[in-house]
Amino acid sequence: MTEKVSRRIFLKVAGTSVAGVGAAVSPVGPAMAAESDAAAIRAAAGMAVLPYPKAAVGKAKAMQPNTPVPFNYPDAGSPCVAIKMGQRVAGGVGPDGDIVAYSSLCTHMGCPLMYDAKTRSFKCPCHYSMFDPEKSGQMICGQATEDLPQIQLSYDAGSDTVHAVAVTGLIYGRQANVL
Ligand code: FES
Repeated sequence: MTEKVSRRIFLKVAGTSVAGVGAAVSPVGPAMAAESDAAAIRAAAGMAVLPYPKAAVGKAKAMQPNTPVPFNYPDAGSPCVAIKMGQRVAGGVGPDGDIVAYSSLCTHMGCPLMYDAKTRSFKCPCHYSMFDPEKSGQMICGQATEDLPQIQLSYDAGSDTVHAVAVTGLIYGRQANVL
């Protein structure tokens, strides 16, 4: 039932997008049409994208390598950890492209994960799952079957601030990341 509803919503959004694009193209020149197309697509996509907040995580230059920085995102009930890995990693932000962040709830049964600086991995004390922060939260071993949800970050060089802006993957125990 849920899947049917989701598909219906998706088709409605997709239909809106196509219709909007079609309507936007005809009466204007190529440059204006392209701009209208982009606006129509953004408006349609916005209907299907969760309204993630933008939240400050901390100052990049104050973060110590290989040391977890706890924060909550996208709300107070969702514990997360940011880490400056000390070397450029996929999805990393900051002056050195090495800051990443993840939900710190295990994807198996939601136990709080601990960061082990020695192995540079997240470890679950409940059933021993391990996750790799240098590989987008990939599960290394254990009872979990899902990778860790990764917090998408942005970096403002002017204020040296790292912000959380979205989540890739579903936070443990939720039907949607934004409640
Ligand atoms: S809750 Fe983490 S492995 Fe089970």
